[in-house]
Amino acid sequence: MRAEDLAAVVSIEAASFNLPWTEEMFREELSHDLSWREVAVEPGGEVIGFIIGRRYPDVWHLMDLAVAPAHRRRGAGGRLLARFLRAADAAGMEVVLEVRPGNEAAVAMYGGVGFRSIATRRGYYSDTQEDAVVMLRERLSGPVLAIETSCDDTAAAVLTAEGDVLASVVHSQDAIHARYGGVVPEVASRAHVERMTAVVREALRQAGCGIADLGAVAATVGPGLIGALLVGVQTAKTIAWSRRLPFFPVNHIHGHLAAVWLADQQALFPMVTLVASGGHTALIRVDDRRTFRLLGQTLDDAAGEAFDKGARLLGLGYPGGRELDELAEKGDPGAFAFPIGLKRSPRPDFSFSGVKTALYYLLRDMTAEERMARAADVAASYRKAIVTALVSKALLSAEREKVKTLAVAGGVAANSLLRRRLLEAGEGAGLHVVVPPLAYCTDNAAMIGAAALSGPRLQYPTYLGIDAAASLALGEWSSGA
Ligand code: KG4
Ligand code: ZN
Repeated sequence: MRAEDLAAVVSIEAASFNLPWTEEMFREELSHDLSWREVAVEPGGEVIGFIIGRRYPDVWHLMDLAVAPAHRRRGAGGRLLARFLRAADAAGMEVVLEVRPGNEAAVAMYGGVGFRSIATRRGYYSDTQEDAVVMLRERLSGPVLAIETSCDDTAAAVLTAEGDVLASVVHSQDAIHARYGGVVPEVASRAHVERMTAVVREALRQAGCGIADLGAVAATVGPGLIGALLVGVQTAKTIAWSRRLPFFPVNHIHGHLAAVWLADQQALFPMVTLVASGGHTALIRVDDRRTFRLLGQTLDDAAGEAFDKGARLLGLGYPGGRELDELAEKGDPGAFAFPIGLKRSPRPDFSFSGVKTALYYLLRDMTAEERMARAADVAASYRKAIVTALVSKALLSAEREKVKTLAVAGGVAANSLLRRRLLEAGEGAGLHVVVPPLAYCTDNAAMIGAAALSGPRLQYPTYLGIDAAASLALGEWSSGA
């Protein structure tokens, strides 16, 4: 917030409150050492909202937050608030605020980010003699335990309130599902039940803490296999409930997106992130740690599924993406021409059903000897078709969105050709390209913890009714929220 923003700030204030601050009051804030002041600006430069807080040595005070009426309900206020709260978390500070009890939307918004009502200030508002509700958001009293069980990996991680990873443990169920050739949901749920306690215990051991030291618990609540999700959600809620800790519900896709800033603290927003895994393939615009917009996605199979099905046709291991990748390294990518899905479409979407069908017919028409002799060439050509589609649509999106950062996440980001091509092509186009380490690409709980720290925080006991949800849209953390 600068002096030249004050005219806009004063008019937003006047349109928002019965007892607006005067221009002198804002002017004083500008010169105040302890003041936190930021404005939300539209791409054209128009100031549409602002936040004012005070960073007192013993507590931070949220004093004023307003968004211009025409721009409300689009998340601008939430973003201003989230930046302030993240700074408070990083500084280990509590935050207090006063709000009119009649302002139910504001009370609900603050409740969703970890504030709870602690007192009433009688006759605080001089216009109506209304009381003020005093709300407090406690600092996290210790590290966050994060749990991920959305598919076939049982994972737990421990992160500090600042987002540093102290431990991350993943128990893969690949060996269990290999004999069925795919993830069997009921088998996955049972395996999660069997492993959950040991995985949590091991994460705590590696982090050097016990349940009594934790400050919060997070879990993936969706999207994913419902039975699998339930195991993680119930475990997390039980631990949180037993210590009366706050609970962070996390959308699995937000977790994949958070792997990017877990890997590269300097990565600049806005960015375009390609999320490519066994279950999802999407291009997402990420404006900040909690503002996401879906640009395009697969119309049929996920990229990981295409790799896995290809591996199966080639008689490779399970799930197969990695094995196909390794075999492809030894082959000639120009040997066979596979169709590149939606190549000529201007939409940033994907389709992998054509390439898969082409592989089926190619192998069907080969003799057993040919299939053996040409396996590496087939794998290399097949991989090239999938990766070409991913890279070209990712670059197209980054260009259209005019971002400077391009990132990739999800298990398919382990693919060696995808990593190389994305780096080459992205840097060739002048983009900063973030390719997280493999451990943060495939499903893990560290990324869930990172996403938790910028998402909703529910105080004890408000989260006891939160349930797992098999389908959750981008931006949601519970069905319809
Ligand atoms: O993100 P992830 O661990 O789980 C899901 O949320 O799906 O992704 C797993 C997917 C599997 O389809 C696996 O075959 C694929 O990522 N994958 C690979 C590679 N490593 C793992 N695909 C291509 N090349 C790889 N090197
Ligand atoms: Zn995943």
